[in-house]
Amino acid sequence: MWEQLRDGGGRNGRQVLVYKCLNSTNTTALNLAAEGAPSGTVVAADSQSAGRGRLGRKWQSPPGLGLYFSIIVRPRLGLSDLTKITLTAGLALRTAIFATSALKTRLKWPNDILWQGKKMAGILTECGAESAKGRPVIVGIGLNVNSGPDDFPAEIGQRGVSMRMAANLFYDRGRILAAVIEAVEREVKRLEKGEFTAILRDWRRWDASAGKRLTWLKPGGMPVCGISLGPDEDGVLRIKDAAGLIHQVISGDLRLRDEETRP
Ligand code: BTN
Repeated sequence: MWEQLRDGGGRNGRQVLVYKCLNSTNTTALNLAAEGAPSGTVVAADSQSAGRGRLGRKWQSPPGLGLYFSIIVRPRLGLSDLTKITLTAGLALRTAIFATSALKTRLKWPNDILWQGKKMAGILTECGAESAKGRPVIVGIGLNVNSGPDDFPAEIGQRGVSMRMAANLFYDRGRILAAVIEAVEREVKRLEKGEFTAILRDWRRWDASAGKRLTWLKPGGMPVCGISLGPDEDGVLRIKDAAGLIHQVISGDLRLRDEETRP
């Protein structure tokens, strides 16, 4: 099954390294980037033993079911642009999912891809150390492709979904990998050309929370309830609370109201 992955993406001169099992493709990509791996290098694994998500969470990565991969990019951008890269990658992932399956997913700030309110994919963007080649950024993507309802861990349960569950079809992971890599490359080029405003306009079309009530679990603070105004020109999410105060969200977790009531 994992041979499928080897056929995906390794075109246009880019290097796609495919492993049977890694701790985390992000860790391997960070190490390769530190050794000077060029922008566009992709590290994929059929399974991960310590796949990680945002906010220190685990990303369960069993073999044969999902896509787990990391793309090394060396964008000519600053550290403060990390959220922009995550939003850009999310838009690319959404585009590739639609192109390969016609599934209409939505984007939840900053890094989730949702299908009918359930999580289909997540992105973990991490930064490497500055070197003569600049500062590498690792875009790590986990996409639930062929998992069934029983393949999700108990803590995710009903809140997870795969492409197979959404479309009632099994997918060729190599083909989807190639489509996502190409879409991410294309969108990151747009970002580097200074087109974040246009990217953001596209992103907002698929925003799962704009105009909806949500709760922001603010790190080290009281939860904030309000209406999402969507991300601003820097990619920072704005929430308007009941008193009309606008909060700027740069980290922490967000719960859409309908997520709070789902088991
Ligand atoms: C999240 O939703 O919190 C982000 C999940 C990102 C998971 C991917 S799987 C490939 C890459 N390697 C990791 O260890 N994490 C990312």
